[in-house]
Amino acid sequence: MSLHVVRLLGVIAALGGAGQAFAQTGDAARGLSYARCACAECHLVEKGERAQGRLLRGPSFERVAAVPGMTGMALTAWLTTSHPTMPNLIIEADRMDDLVAYIRSLAPSPG
Ligand code: HEC
Repeated sequence: MSLHVVRLLGVIAALGGAGQAFAQTGDAARGLSYARCACAECHLVEKGERAQGRLLRGPSFERVAAVPGMTGMALTAWLTTSHPTMPNLIIEADRMDDLVAYIRSLAPSPG
């Protein structure tokens, strides 16, 4: 199955749990500190951050946030499904809300 289809399925699955996804109460500051330790190995987690010679395997969170349609729901779907090129992360529900709040805060026009 192509990665694209896997992503789409994740989004559809998340839509099923829409009620849950709308009740997001994440703390972006906590999301950032969590991202710094859990995600920075492969992603640029901060706005305007530079790779400075590091070998990063994933896209910067700023870029992730700027993808059209990358809603909190879509992000949650991505983070709760598995990915061939990214390790399966076990993220607790409240950590997840923080992370999603943080990544969404990087979006050019939040919405
Ligand atoms: C060991 C490396 C690694 C770690 C650690 C990692 N990621 Fe990733 N991540 C990747 C790679 C590689 C991709 C690109 C996957 C692809 O699109 O094929 C990716 C993609 C993503 C995407 C999707 C981007 C898109 O445009 O669809 C999100 C969101 C994401 N990662 C979030 C996180 C978060 C949040 C953490 C920390 C909790 C994290 N990642 C930790 C390697 C990693």
